[in-house]
Amino acid sequence: RKIVLAYSGGLDTSIILAWLKEHYEAEVIAFTADIGQKDELDGLEEKALRTGASKVYIDDLRDEFARDFIFPMFQAGALYEGQYLLGTSIARPLIAKRMVEIARAEGATAIAHGATGKGNDQVRFELGAAALAPELEVIAPWRLEEFRAQFPGRAEMITYAEEHGIQVKATAQKPYSTDRNLLHISFESGILEDPWFDASAEENKDMFVLSAAPEDAPDVPEYLELEFEKGMCIVLNGERMSPLQVMEALNQLGGKHGIGRVDMVENRFVGMKSRGVYETPGGAILFAAHRWMESLTMDREVMAIRDSLIPRYSSIVYNGFWFAPERLALQALVTESQKNVTGTVRVKLYKGNVTVAGIKSPVSLYNPNIATMEADPSQAYNQSDAEGFIRLNALRLKVAAGVDKRV
Ligand code: ARG
Ligand code: SIN
Repeated sequence: RKIVLAYSGGLDTSIILAWLKEHYEAEVIAFTADIGQKDELDGLEEKALRTGASKVYIDDLRDEFARDFIFPMFQAGALYEGQYLLGTSIARPLIAKRMVEIARAEGATAIAHGATGKGNDQVRFELGAAALAPELEVIAPWRLEEFRAQFPGRAEMITYAEEHGIQVKATAQKPYSTDRNLLHISFESGILEDPWFDASAEENKDMFVLSAAPEDAPDVPEYLELEFEKGMCIVLNGERMSPLQVMEALNQLGGKHGIGRVDMVENRFVGMKSRGVYETPGGAILFAAHRWMESLTMDREVMAIRDSLIPRYSSIVYNGFWFAPERLALQALVTESQKNVTGTVRVKLYKGNVTVAGIKSPVSLYNPNIATMEADPSQAYNQSDAEGFIRLNALRLKVAAGVDKRV
């Protein structure tokens, strides 16, 4: 029997690897998706093999992640609960997709992951797998009573690791948990569980990885030009780039200027509230620039409909329904809405803020001749028409006001 494990090399998934092998007498294939977690990948293959993996996959999925996951989600303007750019949420379906491909190629009958039974990630992995490979069994050790009984705390995990030749990092355990990829890094749990704990305080500066604190960012602003085609950024500062290159460049620039930090309490799908701190430097720039591009090029009613669907779309992604029919249906609408979102946005980065410094488009819907307060040379708008327009719109308000007077 073969099991494919989503492996990160951390203590949890290392223990799980050894435990699955022992407990199920199974061959465990370790799989790590390279989605931009950088140095977390160092020495991973060797570590997985030493921990007992029969085979190791470390697949570079960064291009696919940027092109087929991040960019389509940004076309939709997704933002969960008004703040979260969904950095972890959007990565899970891709990991699930590759995991089931490996399971099929290897003839494995089960997949396993190290997400807890209290979070969103378990749901995302498993809904993704269900949509793509319903025949596969899923093993989530943290949801198994016997596993939790064996590992009630970190001490038991470390003992087990030592007994099984798993190298436990000498560096001190961080007092919170993180998840990093091309779009963001998240921080949760531990000291962050108290929402009164000020993560932005001077003494907690060391926590942040991708961005400078806004107060430490350069004192001079930096300008960027992002060129969009159908809602996707294809050129940065005159240089044509792949989605992956755009994300990497924007992360570097945004990070330098302290852009994209978010600290929030969010609603998990499983019903509880949870506090999360995020750094999404490139995503925050892209999100803002894309919106400015739309402001010039998108029809009012198309925008109203698309915007009304943002909370819905965002929950779909957050809750793990990326491969569900409703997300695909919404994506078709999003794609249609973006066909005119083409042009160039100039932005200014300065101490944690990204502001607009110019927009232009060959397909702009903005017509200064129509909007101007000066005489309109195009004659497209006759001010006298506005009188009847207002009168008809006022009709029901006047009727209602008359009724109010009677009661
Ligand atoms: N709260 C965020 C989300 O649900 C981040 C989750 C981070 N996951 C993790 N395994 N550390 O998308
Ligand atoms: C976990 O519970 O495994 C991480 C947090 C989450 O998935 O929401």
